[in-house]
Amino acid sequence: MNGVTTATPTIFIIFGITGDLAGRKLLPALLNLYVKKQLPSKFAIVGFSRKPFNREDFRVFVREHMNIRPGQYREEEVKHFIDHMYYEQGNFDASSSYAQLAQRLKNIDDGFHQCSNKLFHLSIPPSLYESIFQHLSNSGLTIPCGGDEGWTRILVEKPFGNDSEMAKKLDKKLGELFDENQVFRIDHYLAKEALQNILAFRFSNSLFEPLWNRKYVDKVHIKLLEKIGVEGRGAFYDGIGALKDVGQNHMLQMLALIAMEPPAATDAATIRSERAKVLNRLQPITSKNIASRVVRGQYEGYKFEGGVKEYTQTETYFRIESYINNPRWKNVPFYLESGKSLADTKTEIDIYFKNEKNEERQNVLTFRIQPDEGIKIRFWVKTPGFTMDVEPKLLKFKYSDSASLSVLPDAYEKVLHDAIIGDQTLFTSTEEVASAWKYVTSVLSSWNVVPLTIYRKGTQDVL
Ligand code: BG6
Repeated sequence: MNGVTTATPTIFIIFGITGDLAGRKLLPALLNLYVKKQLPSKFAIVGFSRKPFNREDFRVFVREHMNIRPGQYREEEVKHFIDHMYYEQGNFDASSSYAQLAQRLKNIDDGFHQCSNKLFHLSIPPSLYESIFQHLSNSGLTIPCGGDEGWTRILVEKPFGNDSEMAKKLDKKLGELFDENQVFRIDHYLAKEALQNILAFRFSNSLFEPLWNRKYVDKVHIKLLEKIGVEGRGAFYDGIGALKDVGQNHMLQMLALIAMEPPAATDAATIRSERAKVLNRLQPITSKNIASRVVRGQYEGYKFEGGVKEYTQTETYFRIESYINNPRWKNVPFYLESGKSLADTKTEIDIYFKNEKNEERQNVLTFRIQPDEGIKIRFWVKTPGFTMDVEPKLLKFKYSDSASLSVLPDAYEKVLHDAIIGDQTLFTSTEEVASAWKYVTSVLSSWNVVPLTIYRKGTQDVL
Protein backbone atom coordinates (compact mmCIF):
# COMPACT_ATOMS: atom_id res chain seq x y z
CA MET A 1 0.00 0.00 0.00
CA ASN A 2 1.74 3.16 -1.12
CA GLY A 3 0.30 6.64 -0.98
CA VAL A 4 -3.11 7.89 0.04
CA THR A 5 -5.89 5.95 -1.64
CA THR A 6 -7.90 8.96 -2.83
CA ALA A 7 -7.69 12.73 -2.55
CA THR A 8 -11.47 13.17 -2.44
CA PRO A 9 -13.07 13.41 1.02
CA THR A 10 -14.68 10.10 1.88
CA ILE A 11 -17.41 9.14 4.33
CA PHE A 12 -17.62 5.57 5.65
CA ILE A 13 -21.13 4.74 6.72
CA ILE A 14 -21.27 1.63 8.89
CA PHE A 15 -24.65 -0.03 9.38
CA GLY A 16 -24.59 -2.04 12.60
CA ILE A 17 -21.59 -0.25 14.10
CA THR A 18 -22.37 -1.60 17.58
CA GLY A 19 -22.00 -5.23 16.39
CA ASP A 20 -19.14 -7.66 16.83
CA LEU A 21 -17.69 -7.32 13.32
CA ALA A 22 -17.41 -3.54 13.46
CA GLY A 23 -15.62 -3.66 16.80
CA ARG A 24 -13.29 -6.56 15.99
CA LYS A 25 -12.41 -5.92 12.36
CA LEU A 26 -13.75 -2.81 10.65
CA LEU A 27 -12.95 -0.03 13.08
CA PRO A 28 -9.48 -1.38 13.92
CA ALA A 29 -8.78 -1.67 10.16
CA LEU A 30 -9.89 1.92 9.59
CA LEU A 31 -7.74 3.06 12.50
CA ASN A 32 -4.74 1.20 11.05
CA LEU A 33 -5.29 2.74 7.62
CA TYR A 34 -5.51 6.13 9.31
CA VAL A 35 -2.24 5.58 11.20
CA LYS A 36 -0.57 4.36 7.97
CA LYS A 37 -1.83 7.53 6.24
CA GLN A 38 -3.91 5.54 3.78
CA LEU A 39 -7.16 7.40 4.40
CA PRO A 40 -7.93 10.66 2.62
CA SER A 41 -6.98 13.71 4.68
CA LYS A 42 -10.67 14.59 4.88
CA PHE A 43 -12.78 11.67 6.01
CA ALA A 44 -15.62 10.86 8.38
CA ILE A 45 -17.08 7.69 9.82
CA VAL A 46 -20.79 7.62 10.47
CA GLY A 47 -22.14 4.79 12.58
CA PHE A 48 -25.78 3.92 11.99
CA SER A 49 -27.56 1.65 14.41
CA ARG A 50 -30.59 1.25 16.65
CA LYS A 51 -29.02 1.94 20.04
CA PRO A 52 -29.43 5.43 21.50
CA PHE A 53 -26.17 7.36 21.98
CA ASN A 54 -25.21 11.00 22.11
CA ARG A 55 -21.98 11.87 20.30
CA GLU A 56 -19.85 11.78 23.42
CA ASP A 57 -21.20 8.45 24.68
CA PHE A 58 -20.73 7.07 21.19
CA ARG A 59 -17.07 8.05 21.13
CA VAL A 60 -16.51 6.45 24.53
CA PHE A 61 -18.29 3.32 23.29
CA VAL A 62 -16.18 3.16 20.12
CA ARG A 63 -12.93 3.31 22.04
CA GLU A 64 -13.99 0.35 24.19
CA HIS A 65 -15.50 -1.48 21.25
CA MET A 66 -12.16 -1.47 19.38
CA ASN A 67 -10.34 -3.19 22.24
CA ILE A 68 -7.11 -1.26 21.76
CA ARG A 69 -4.15 -2.77 23.60
CA PRO A 70 -2.18 -0.43 25.89
CA GLY A 71 0.70 1.09 23.91
CA GLN A 72 -0.61 -0.13 20.56
CA TYR A 73 -1.08 3.41 19.20
CA ARG A 74 -0.12 6.91 20.23
CA GLU A 75 -2.94 8.42 22.29
CA GLU A 76 -3.35 11.47 20.05
CA GLU A 77 -3.66 9.23 16.96
CA VAL A 78 -6.59 7.42 18.54
CA LYS A 79 -8.14 10.66 19.69
CA HIS A 80 -7.86 12.30 16.24
CA PHE A 81 -9.26 9.18 14.62
CA ILE A 82 -12.25 9.13 16.96
CA ASP A 83 -12.79 12.85 16.33
CA HIS A 84 -13.81 11.86 12.78
CA MET A 85 -16.70 9.76 14.05
CA TYR A 86 -20.41 10.55 14.15
CA TYR A 87 -23.43 8.55 15.18
CA GLU A 88 -26.89 8.37 13.69
CA GLN A 89 -29.53 6.46 15.57
CA GLY A 90 -32.08 4.90 13.28
CA ASN A 91 -34.27 2.02 12.36
CA PHE A 92 -33.02 -0.02 9.42
CA ASP A 93 -36.51 -0.25 7.96
CA ALA A 94 -37.81 3.28 8.52
CA SER A 95 -37.63 5.74 5.61
CA SER A 96 -37.41 8.63 8.09
CA SER A 97 -34.11 7.22 9.45
CA TYR A 98 -32.59 7.34 5.96
CA ALA A 99 -33.78 10.93 5.54
CA GLN A 100 -31.99 11.80 8.80
CA LEU A 101 -28.90 9.95 7.64
CA ALA A 102 -29.00 11.87 4.34
CA GLN A 103 -29.16 15.13 6.26
CA ARG A 104 -26.21 14.08 8.40
CA LEU A 105 -24.14 13.24 5.32
CA LYS A 106 -25.09 16.53 3.70
CA ASN A 107 -23.94 18.44 6.80
CA ILE A 108 -20.60 16.65 6.69
CA ASP A 109 -20.27 17.39 2.95
CA ASP A 110 -21.06 21.05 3.64
CA GLY A 111 -18.18 21.05 6.12
CA PHE A 112 -15.91 19.57 3.45
CA HIS A 113 -17.18 22.15 0.90
CA GLN A 114 -17.36 19.24 -1.54
CA CYS A 115 -19.49 16.28 -2.39
CA SER A 116 -17.61 13.34 -0.86
CA ASN A 117 -17.23 9.68 -1.77
CA LYS A 118 -19.59 7.48 0.23
CA LEU A 119 -18.74 3.91 1.21
CA PHE A 120 -21.64 2.05 2.83
CA HIS A 121 -20.76 -1.05 4.81
CA LEU A 122 -23.47 -3.47 5.87
CA SER A 123 -22.35 -5.07 9.10
CA ILE A 124 -25.76 -6.54 9.89
CA PRO A 125 -27.57 -9.91 9.56
CA PRO A 126 -28.23 -10.83 5.92
CA SER A 127 -31.99 -10.99 6.58
CA LEU A 128 -31.96 -7.17 6.69
CA TYR A 129 -30.09 -6.72 3.40
CA GLU A 130 -33.01 -6.53 1.06
CA SER A 131 -34.84 -3.84 2.98
CA ILE A 132 -31.66 -1.79 3.44
CA PHE A 133 -30.79 -2.00 -0.29
CA GLN A 134 -34.24 -0.71 -1.11
CA HIS A 135 -34.15 2.12 1.43
CA LEU A 136 -30.68 3.19 0.36
CA SER A 137 -31.81 3.34 -3.21
CA ASN A 138 -35.15 5.09 -2.44
CA SER A 139 -33.43 7.71 -0.34
CA GLY A 140 -31.08 8.62 -3.20
CA LEU A 141 -28.16 8.15 -0.83
CA THR A 142 -26.27 5.95 -3.26
CA ILE A 143 -26.48 8.33 -6.20
CA PRO A 144 -22.94 9.44 -7.01
CA CYS A 145 -22.14 13.16 -7.22
CA GLY A 146 -21.25 12.83 -10.89
CA GLY A 147 -18.02 13.08 -12.84
CA ASP A 148 -15.01 11.14 -11.64
CA GLU A 149 -15.29 12.09 -8.00
CA GLY A 150 -17.90 11.57 -5.35
CA TRP A 151 -18.59 7.90 -6.04
CA THR A 152 -20.84 5.75 -3.91
CA ARG A 153 -20.07 2.11 -3.20
CA ILE A 154 -21.67 -0.56 -1.10
CA LEU A 155 -19.79 -3.26 0.81
CA VAL A 156 -21.76 -6.36 1.75
CA GLU A 157 -20.68 -9.14 4.06
CA LYS A 158 -21.21 -12.85 3.71
CA PRO A 159 -23.28 -14.94 3.97
CA PHE A 160 -24.90 -13.34 0.96
CA GLY A 161 -28.29 -15.02 1.16
CA ASN A 162 -29.23 -18.22 2.88
CA ASP A 163 -29.42 -20.58 -0.09
CA SER A 164 -29.33 -20.45 -3.88
CA GLU A 165 -32.80 -19.00 -4.21
CA MET A 166 -32.37 -16.24 -1.65
CA ALA A 167 -28.94 -15.32 -3.03
CA LYS A 168 -30.42 -15.03 -6.53
CA LYS A 169 -33.27 -12.87 -5.27
CA LEU A 170 -30.91 -10.59 -3.37
CA ASP A 171 -28.60 -10.31 -6.33
CA LYS A 172 -31.45 -9.43 -8.61
CA LYS A 173 -32.51 -6.67 -6.24
CA LEU A 174 -28.95 -5.42 -5.95
CA GLY A 175 -28.60 -5.44 -9.74
CA GLU A 176 -31.79 -3.38 -10.14
CA LEU A 177 -30.61 -0.75 -7.69
CA PHE A 178 -26.87 -0.54 -8.24
CA ASP A 179 -24.28 -1.01 -10.95
CA GLU A 180 -22.05 -4.04 -10.45
CA ASN A 181 -19.04 -1.73 -10.15
CA GLN A 182 -20.63 -0.13 -7.07
CA VAL A 183 -21.05 -3.47 -5.30
CA PHE A 184 -18.24 -5.02 -3.24
CA ARG A 185 -19.13 -8.46 -1.84
CA ILE A 186 -16.64 -9.17 0.91
CA ASP A 187 -14.93 -12.46 1.51
CA HIS A 188 -12.13 -11.29 3.77
CA TYR A 189 -10.21 -14.53 3.16
CA LEU A 190 -9.46 -13.39 -0.39
CA ALA A 191 -7.73 -10.35 1.09
CA LYS A 192 -5.40 -12.38 3.30
CA GLU A 193 -1.82 -11.96 2.19
CA ALA A 194 -1.00 -15.70 2.30
CA LEU A 195 -4.07 -16.47 0.20
CA GLN A 196 -3.14 -13.95 -2.46
CA ASN A 197 0.23 -15.63 -2.52
CA ILE A 198 -1.34 -18.83 -3.88
CA LEU A 199 -1.76 -17.35 -7.35
CA ALA A 200 1.61 -15.60 -7.23
CA PHE A 201 3.29 -18.87 -6.21
CA ARG A 202 1.44 -20.99 -8.75
CA PHE A 203 2.08 -18.76 -11.71
CA SER A 204 5.54 -17.36 -10.95
CA ASN A 205 7.21 -20.74 -10.37
CA SER A 206 7.41 -23.00 -13.39
CA LEU A 207 8.27 -25.95 -11.14
CA PHE A 208 4.74 -26.78 -10.05
CA GLU A 209 2.35 -25.82 -12.83
CA PRO A 210 3.14 -28.92 -14.99
CA LEU A 211 2.22 -31.11 -11.99
CA TRP A 212 -0.95 -29.18 -11.13
CA ASN A 213 -3.47 -31.72 -12.36
CA ARG A 214 -5.07 -35.13 -11.83
CA LYS A 215 -2.14 -37.01 -13.26
CA TYR A 216 0.17 -35.91 -10.45
CA VAL A 217 -2.05 -34.69 -7.62
CA ASP A 218 -3.51 -37.37 -5.39
CA LYS A 219 -5.69 -35.20 -3.16
CA VAL A 220 -6.07 -31.71 -1.73
CA HIS A 221 -7.01 -31.00 1.89
CA ILE A 222 -8.29 -27.53 2.80
CA LYS A 223 -8.61 -26.88 6.53
CA LEU A 224 -9.96 -23.93 8.51
CA LEU A 225 -9.72 -25.07 12.11
CA GLU A 226 -10.42 -22.88 15.10
CA LYS A 227 -9.82 -23.20 18.82
CA ILE A 228 -12.50 -20.64 19.61
CA GLY A 229 -16.18 -21.49 19.93
CA VAL A 230 -19.00 -19.17 18.91
CA GLU A 231 -17.78 -16.41 21.24
CA GLY A 232 -20.97 -14.54 22.01
CA ARG A 233 -22.29 -14.89 18.44
CA GLY A 234 -24.56 -17.82 19.34
CA ALA A 235 -27.83 -16.38 18.04
CA PHE A 236 -26.33 -15.44 14.66
CA TYR A 237 -24.28 -18.61 14.31
CA ASP A 238 -27.08 -20.98 15.29
CA GLY A 239 -29.11 -19.61 12.41
CA ILE A 240 -26.45 -20.47 9.83
CA GLY A 241 -23.93 -23.10 11.02
CA ALA A 242 -20.37 -23.78 9.93
CA LEU A 243 -21.10 -24.67 6.31
CA LYS A 244 -22.73 -21.33 5.53
CA ASP A 245 -20.48 -19.38 7.91
CA VAL A 246 -17.17 -20.39 6.34
CA GLY A 247 -17.82 -23.19 3.83
CA GLN A 248 -19.91 -21.37 1.24
CA ASN A 249 -17.37 -18.55 1.11
CA HIS A 250 -13.86 -18.79 2.64
CA MET A 251 -13.34 -22.52 1.99
CA LEU A 252 -14.68 -22.50 -1.54
CA GLN A 253 -12.60 -19.44 -2.37
CA MET A 254 -9.49 -21.29 -1.21
CA LEU A 255 -10.50 -24.21 -3.39
CA ALA A 256 -11.04 -21.85 -6.33
CA LEU A 257 -7.56 -20.35 -6.03
CA ILE A 258 -5.93 -23.78 -5.91
CA ALA A 259 -7.99 -25.28 -8.71
CA MET A 260 -8.67 -22.44 -11.18
CA GLU A 261 -7.16 -22.45 -14.65
CA PRO A 262 -4.30 -20.04 -15.31
CA PRO A 263 -5.94 -16.68 -16.06
CA ALA A 264 -5.19 -15.10 -19.44
CA ALA A 265 -4.74 -11.72 -17.75
CA THR A 266 -4.46 -10.38 -14.22
CA ASP A 267 -7.36 -7.93 -14.24
CA ALA A 268 -10.27 -8.30 -11.82
CA ALA A 269 -12.78 -9.49 -14.42
CA THR A 270 -10.55 -12.30 -15.73
CA ILE A 271 -9.54 -13.60 -12.31
CA ARG A 272 -13.09 -13.48 -10.93
CA SER A 273 -14.36 -15.25 -14.02
CA GLU A 274 -11.80 -18.09 -13.66
CA ARG A 275 -12.68 -18.50 -9.97
CA ALA A 276 -16.38 -18.65 -10.87
CA LYS A 277 -15.78 -21.18 -13.66
CA VAL A 278 -14.09 -23.71 -11.42
CA LEU A 279 -16.69 -23.30 -8.66
CA ASN A 280 -19.35 -23.91 -11.23
CA ARG A 281 -17.76 -27.28 -12.06
CA LEU A 282 -18.08 -28.66 -8.51
CA GLN A 283 -19.89 -31.96 -8.65
CA PRO A 284 -23.15 -31.61 -6.68
CA ILE A 285 -23.55 -33.78 -3.59
CA THR A 286 -26.59 -36.06 -3.88
CA SER A 287 -28.78 -37.97 -1.45
CA LYS A 288 -27.02 -41.14 -2.66
CA ASN A 289 -23.44 -40.09 -1.97
CA ILE A 290 -23.84 -37.69 0.96
CA ALA A 291 -23.44 -40.34 3.65
CA SER A 292 -20.02 -41.38 2.36
CA ARG A 293 -18.79 -37.87 1.50
CA VAL A 294 -19.97 -35.66 4.34
CA VAL A 295 -19.36 -35.57 8.11
CA ARG A 296 -20.99 -33.02 10.35
CA GLY A 297 -20.40 -32.41 14.02
CA GLN A 298 -21.26 -30.22 16.97
CA TYR A 299 -19.04 -29.51 19.97
CA GLU A 300 -20.14 -30.68 23.36
CA GLY A 301 -21.88 -27.89 25.24
CA TYR A 302 -22.66 -25.87 22.12
CA LYS A 303 -26.38 -26.03 22.89
CA PHE A 304 -25.75 -24.18 26.18
CA GLU A 305 -24.09 -21.20 24.46
CA GLY A 306 -26.05 -17.94 24.78
CA GLY A 307 -28.56 -17.45 21.95
CA VAL A 308 -28.43 -21.10 20.80
CA LYS A 309 -31.68 -23.05 20.64
CA GLU A 310 -32.01 -25.90 23.13
CA TYR A 311 -32.68 -28.60 20.53
CA THR A 312 -30.28 -27.18 18.00
CA GLN A 313 -29.05 -29.38 15.16
CA THR A 314 -26.65 -26.73 13.87
CA GLU A 315 -23.20 -28.00 12.91
CA THR A 316 -20.03 -26.42 14.28
CA TYR A 317 -17.87 -28.79 12.21
CA PHE A 318 -18.01 -30.30 8.74
CA ARG A 319 -15.86 -32.31 6.40
CA ILE A 320 -16.80 -32.73 2.76
CA GLU A 321 -15.15 -34.76 0.03
CA SER A 322 -15.65 -32.63 -3.07
CA TYR A 323 -14.86 -33.27 -6.73
CA ILE A 324 -14.43 -30.92 -9.65
CA ASN A 325 -15.82 -32.09 -12.96
CA ASN A 326 -13.25 -30.82 -15.39
CA PRO A 327 -10.37 -32.44 -17.29
CA ARG A 328 -7.73 -31.06 -14.92
CA TRP A 329 -9.26 -32.35 -11.68
CA LYS A 330 -11.59 -35.23 -12.53
CA ASN A 331 -11.58 -37.80 -9.64
CA VAL A 332 -9.17 -35.84 -7.43
CA PRO A 333 -10.76 -35.44 -3.98
CA PHE A 334 -10.72 -31.97 -2.45
CA TYR A 335 -11.43 -32.35 1.27
CA LEU A 336 -12.96 -29.29 2.90
CA GLU A 337 -12.75 -29.37 6.68
CA SER A 338 -13.67 -26.72 9.20
CA GLY A 339 -14.71 -26.58 12.82
CA LYS A 340 -14.85 -24.58 16.02
CA SER A 341 -13.62 -25.57 19.51
CA LEU A 342 -10.91 -27.81 18.11
CA ALA A 343 -7.38 -28.44 19.42
CA ASP A 344 -5.64 -25.82 17.25
CA THR A 345 -6.29 -22.71 15.24
CA LYS A 346 -4.89 -23.16 11.79
CA THR A 347 -5.89 -22.57 8.22
CA GLU A 348 -3.88 -24.46 5.66
CA ILE A 349 -4.04 -26.21 2.33
CA ASP A 350 -2.14 -29.46 1.72
CA ILE A 351 -1.56 -30.71 -1.80
CA TYR A 352 -0.47 -34.35 -1.92
CA PHE A 353 1.49 -35.43 -4.98
CA LYS A 354 1.16 -39.02 -6.14
CA ASN A 355 3.92 -41.53 -5.64
CA GLU A 356 2.84 -44.61 -7.55
CA LYS A 357 5.71 -46.71 -6.24
CA ASN A 358 5.24 -45.90 -2.60
CA GLU A 359 2.03 -44.27 -1.46
CA GLU A 360 3.43 -43.47 1.97
CA ARG A 361 6.16 -41.31 0.49
CA GLN A 362 4.24 -38.56 -1.14
CA ASN A 363 5.54 -35.05 -1.54
CA VAL A 364 3.23 -32.56 0.15
CA LEU A 365 3.06 -28.86 -0.63
CA THR A 366 1.44 -26.83 2.15
CA PHE A 367 0.15 -23.28 2.00
CA ARG A 368 -0.10 -22.07 5.60
CA ILE A 369 -2.67 -19.29 5.51
CA GLN A 370 -2.56 -18.51 9.26
CA PRO A 371 -1.07 -18.32 11.79
CA ASP A 372 2.68 -18.63 10.93
CA GLU A 373 1.93 -17.80 7.32
CA GLY A 374 4.20 -19.48 4.82
CA ILE A 375 4.78 -22.36 2.42
CA LYS A 376 6.45 -25.71 2.99
CA ILE A 377 7.27 -28.78 0.96
CA ARG A 378 7.77 -32.24 2.36
CA PHE A 379 10.40 -34.19 0.49
CA TRP A 380 12.45 -37.31 1.14
CA VAL A 381 16.18 -37.65 1.78
CA LYS A 382 18.47 -40.56 2.39
CA THR A 383 19.12 -41.36 6.01
CA PRO A 384 22.91 -41.41 6.48
CA GLY A 385 24.23 -44.94 6.87
CA PHE A 386 24.62 -48.18 5.03
CA THR A 387 21.05 -48.59 3.81
CA MET A 388 19.01 -46.70 1.23
CA ASP A 389 16.37 -45.78 3.82
CA VAL A 390 14.81 -42.35 3.37
CA GLU A 391 13.15 -39.94 5.77
CA PRO A 392 10.93 -36.87 5.36
CA LYS A 393 12.32 -33.32 5.60
CA LEU A 394 10.83 -29.90 4.99
CA LEU A 395 11.74 -27.00 2.73
CA LYS A 396 10.16 -24.02 4.40
CA PHE A 397 9.38 -20.37 3.84
CA LYS A 398 7.86 -18.37 6.69
CA TYR A 399 6.88 -14.73 6.30
CA SER A 400 8.04 -14.07 9.85
CA ASP A 401 11.61 -15.17 9.02
CA SER A 402 12.06 -12.28 6.66
CA ALA A 403 12.14 -8.76 8.11
CA SER A 404 10.77 -7.15 4.96
CA LEU A 405 7.84 -9.57 4.72
CA SER A 406 6.94 -10.03 8.33
CA VAL A 407 4.37 -7.23 8.73
CA LEU A 408 1.21 -8.47 7.09
CA PRO A 409 -1.70 -6.06 6.77
CA ASP A 410 -4.94 -7.30 8.27
CA ALA A 411 -7.35 -8.59 5.64
CA TYR A 412 -9.91 -5.89 6.48
CA GLU A 413 -7.35 -3.17 5.82
CA LYS A 414 -6.88 -4.61 2.34
CA VAL A 415 -10.65 -4.94 1.87
CA LEU A 416 -11.23 -1.28 2.72
CA HIS A 417 -8.18 -0.11 0.82
CA ASP A 418 -9.28 -1.89 -2.37
CA ALA A 419 -12.88 -0.72 -2.00
CA ILE A 420 -11.62 2.86 -1.78
CA ILE A 421 -9.49 2.53 -4.90
CA GLY A 422 -12.29 0.62 -6.67
CA ASP A 423 -10.37 -2.63 -7.30
CA GLN A 424 -12.83 -5.54 -7.23
CA THR A 425 -10.30 -8.39 -7.71
CA LEU A 426 -10.50 -9.57 -4.11
CA PHE A 427 -14.29 -9.32 -3.91
CA THR A 428 -16.64 -12.03 -5.08
CA SER A 429 -18.62 -11.58 -8.24
CA THR A 430 -22.26 -12.46 -8.62
CA GLU A 431 -21.30 -15.58 -10.65
CA GLU A 432 -18.98 -16.80 -7.90
CA VAL A 433 -21.61 -16.36 -5.23
CA ALA A 434 -24.18 -18.18 -7.38
CA SER A 435 -21.82 -21.11 -8.13
CA ALA A 436 -20.80 -21.45 -4.49
CA TRP A 437 -24.44 -21.48 -3.39
CA LYS A 438 -25.32 -24.00 -6.07
CA TYR A 439 -22.83 -26.44 -4.57
CA VAL A 440 -23.61 -25.72 -0.92
CA THR A 441 -27.34 -25.98 -1.57
CA SER A 442 -26.76 -29.47 -3.02
CA VAL A 443 -25.10 -30.44 0.29
CA LEU A 444 -27.80 -28.81 2.38
CA SER A 445 -30.66 -30.49 0.59
CA SER A 446 -29.69 -33.87 2.08
CA TRP A 447 -27.75 -32.52 5.06
CA ASN A 448 -30.08 -33.89 7.73
CA VAL A 449 -29.52 -37.45 6.52
CA VAL A 450 -26.01 -37.24 7.98
CA PRO A 451 -26.01 -37.87 11.74
CA LEU A 452 -24.61 -35.07 13.88
CA THR A 453 -21.47 -36.26 15.70
CA ILE A 454 -21.00 -34.66 19.11
CA TYR A 455 -17.29 -34.05 19.69
CA ARG A 456 -15.24 -33.08 22.73
CA LYS A 457 -14.10 -29.45 22.91
CA GLY A 458 -10.42 -29.20 22.06
CA THR A 459 -10.30 -32.51 20.23
CA GLN A 460 -7.69 -33.29 17.56
CA ASP A 461 -10.00 -35.59 15.65
CA VAL A 462 -13.73 -35.21 15.36
CA LEU A 463 -14.16 -38.72 13.97
C1 BG6 B 1 -15.77 -15.33 9.72
C2 BG6 B 1 -16.70 -16.30 10.41
O1 BG6 B 1 -16.23 -15.06 8.42
O2 BG6 B 1 -14.50 -15.90 9.65
C3 BG6 B 1 -16.18 -16.66 11.78
O3 BG6 B 1 -17.99 -15.71 10.53
C4 BG6 B 1 -14.74 -17.15 11.70
O4 BG6 B 1 -16.98 -17.65 12.41
C5 BG6 B 1 -13.92 -16.15 10.91
O5 BG6 B 1 -14.24 -17.28 13.02
C6 BG6 B 1 -12.51 -16.64 10.67
O6 BG6 B 1 -11.81 -15.56 10.13
P1 BG6 B 1 -10.32 -15.29 10.54
O7 BG6 B 1 -9.90 -14.15 9.70
O8 BG6 B 1 -10.33 -15.00 12.02
O9 BG6 B 1 -9.62 -16.56 10.23
